[in-house]
Amino acid sequence: MAKREVKFDHDDGLIVSEVGPWATEKHARVRQYIEISSATRKKYIPPPAWHAGAAYIELFSGPGRSLIRGTNRIIDGSPLVAFKAAQATVPFTEMHLNDFDAENSSALNSRIRALGGAPICYSDPADVAIDKIVAAVNPSGLHFAFLDPFNLAGLSFDIIRKLSKLKVDLLIHVSVHDLQRNLDDYSRPGDVLDTFAPGWSKHVDPKKLSRNSFRAALMEYWLAEIRKLGKLPAEGVELVEGPTGQRLYWLVFASEHGIARKFWEAIRDPMRQTTMDF
Ligand SMILES: C[S@@+](CC[C@H](N)C(=O)[O-])C[C@H]1O[C@@H](n2cnc3c(N)ncnc32)[C@H](O)[C@@H]1O
Repeated sequence: MAKREVKFDHDDGLIVSEVGPWATEKHARVRQYIEISSATRKKYIPPPAWHAGAAYIELFSGPGRSLIRGTNRIIDGSPLVAFKAAQATVPFTEMHLNDFDAENSSALNSRIRALGGAPICYSDPADVAIDKIVAAVNPSGLHFAFLDPFNLAGLSFDIIRKLSKLKVDLLIHVSVHDLQRNLDDYSRPGDVLDTFAPGWSKHVDPKKLSRNSFRAALMEYWLAEIRKLGKLPAEGVELVEGPTGQRLYWLVFASEHGIARKFWEAIRDPMRQTTMDF
């Protein structure tokens, strides 16, 4: 197999990832959420010393800068978008950023340090980093986690379960594209759906459903499991589509706080699909 060409940002000499133009949609929501929630975040920032802090968390962070495929345009990745949006409003007390690729993690660390930040960067598989991060942040703080894996295989429900022990607002990228393409493989016993939505097969019977109804029922089950953790998914789910209208991913927001869900409804694009239907 041909080795993937590693690309660099000439401005800082560090590696970039390659993304489709639609990456900017998720970045816009990360930035807007950080801006709209800044007054609430401020209530958790010391001083006074008893304020428990507000951390930004990513388990799939990327290198911090990305080349838009087929162009020369390099954009900030989500952790840089988050850092800059918080610096311009109310800075996070900590940033916990993980990517299992050590080069990505190191590039991201350098980039945020160059901007004056002091992130805590990990290069572990997400299911290892999650334990370190949950142990490191103050459970009484108010945190924001953006989960942005490439595909459903990365989005183990255990990660969401562990994060839910914190007071945390969650923005989750769910790949519709992956769910549409790989449903048959993923639904085999022991395969991806068993980590993405453990227990699904006791509640959803693919034999009795059309493929689209199966997908919809699976997502309904997944949302219900998140609800059981006390993190209520916002009603509006945002669908991001590719240039020819292909369905790429949903952005799902969940929080135990009504005000946080109201913030999400205020920033998400009302013209986009609001449910996880097929
Ligand atoms: C979609 S990209 C993240 C992009 C980034 N959030 C942004 O918007 O700039 C997913 C990243 O997750 C990393 N990754 C994939 N699987 C992982 C895993 N199991 N644990 C940790 N990182 C993983 C990849 O190296 C990749 O950089």
